[in-house]
Amino acid sequence: ETGYFTYDHGFTATASCKSAITYIDGDEGVLLYRGYPIDQLAEKSNFLEVSQLLMDGELPTQAEFSKFEHEVTHHTMMHEAQKTFLHGFRHDAHPMAMLCSMVGSLSAFYHDNLDLEDPEQRRMAAIRLMAKVPTMAAACYRHSIGWPVRYPRNNLEYVDRFLHMMFEVPAEPLELKPVAAKALDLLFILHADHEQNASTSTVRLVGSTGANPYACVAAGIAALWGPAHGGANEAVLRMLEEIGSPDKVSTAVDRAKDKNSGFRLMGFGHRVYKNFDPRAKIIREMCHKVLEELGVDDPLLEVAMRLEEAALKDDYFVQRKLYPNVDFYSGIIYKALGIPKEMFTVMFAIARTAGWVSHWLEQQVDPEAKIGRPRQIYTGATPRDYLAVDQRG
Ligand code: SDX
Repeated sequence: ETGYFTYDHGFTATASCKSAITYIDGDEGVLLYRGYPIDQLAEKSNFLEVSQLLMDGELPTQAEFSKFEHEVTHHTMMHEAQKTFLHGFRHDAHPMAMLCSMVGSLSAFYHDNLDLEDPEQRRMAAIRLMAKVPTMAAACYRHSIGWPVRYPRNNLEYVDRFLHMMFEVPAEPLELKPVAAKALDLLFILHADHEQNASTSTVRLVGSTGANPYACVAAGIAALWGPAHGGANEAVLRMLEEIGSPDKVSTAVDRAKDKNSGFRLMGFGHRVYKNFDPRAKIIREMCHKVLEELGVDDPLLEVAMRLEEAALKDDYFVQRKLYPNVDFYSGIIYKALGIPKEMFTVMFAIARTAGWVSHWLEQQVDPEAKIGRPRQIYTGATPRDYLAVDQRG
């Protein structure tokens, strides 16, 4: 009720806002989207329906979902001039750098006539972002490998359409494996929202100034890129590749315990969860199933499992309540789907766009919303007089 939360080490944070979208109980490992447990949504729903639930607050009727799906499907194209913008990047630019810029550039294509006071226009902007981020994400990947950008095929479902834009080549027909689309849809559900995490808080802070939603989501993408946040999924795979084999796991655990090593177990720990991240449990189970169905035998899965087993038995991690988080196993599945590690955080951004636009929409109608203005504890100099340069030093 006080709006104050006390983290471990007695750090107290004030609530940055009120929100009805997602609830997390970090001690119990509970995650609810609009009151629905994440495991039920993962088992029974799909990403587009979950996106509509996050945006509108209720599970849609069939008619409501069909309308939403039609709106998203018919806004998937990006402006042709954005391809020119994209081709200005070096081919080896990080896809998150490209995506952040491409989404920010939407402000230049749709911002001038955007009336944020009009609820329909606000909703349209949210739908444009849901629809175009996958198209732009796939385009960034295609640019990085020197392949032509593919137009969205609106006769495909949301995730199939994305996979088609990622992997279709003129030379041969793309065989979309149902298990791949289902696995990616499930990963998108699990990454769709997560309360006031760093990138969502960024979107809200930028949104609180009245900036347009495209600029807000571009800022969220920038925040997500950091290895302490969404960039962790790419960092986990690099860590597993560096460890290399199960017999090197104990050395890695020892390094992670040594503060001077500069090495952390990526994919472990969380600001809020001091118990198992419920998403990590679902992804771990999925890992085995997806790799088996795809016939992929990735030795890094064994390394990840040994690493988790060793850390969960080690006092350093147990005492600090460090458990695998959403990023620990996700990269192994992305890799099995043929997605390169540089694109892992882009996957996270596609999914989290649903959460970001939902929080932006919620903030726009919050009568108590004010411009964000965090304060500080000042630790600098006390008042003093100016010194002429010949009196310094
Ligand atoms: C995401 O906020 C969200 O909800 C984010 C997210 C979302 O869906 O939006 O859930 C997605 O960002 C998940 C987190 C992904 N990041 C990583 O996996 C990077 C590795 N994790 C750590 O960098 C770290 O755990 C953080 C950044 C996630 C949390 O950092 P904190 O809050 O600084 O961790 P802490 O202070 O609670 O740590 C307590 C102790 C510290 O040691 P002591 O000072 O007590 O001696 O645990 C240590 C930390 O040094 N520690 C780790 C560690 N994480 C924390 N030691 C080794 N390996 C780690 N991974």
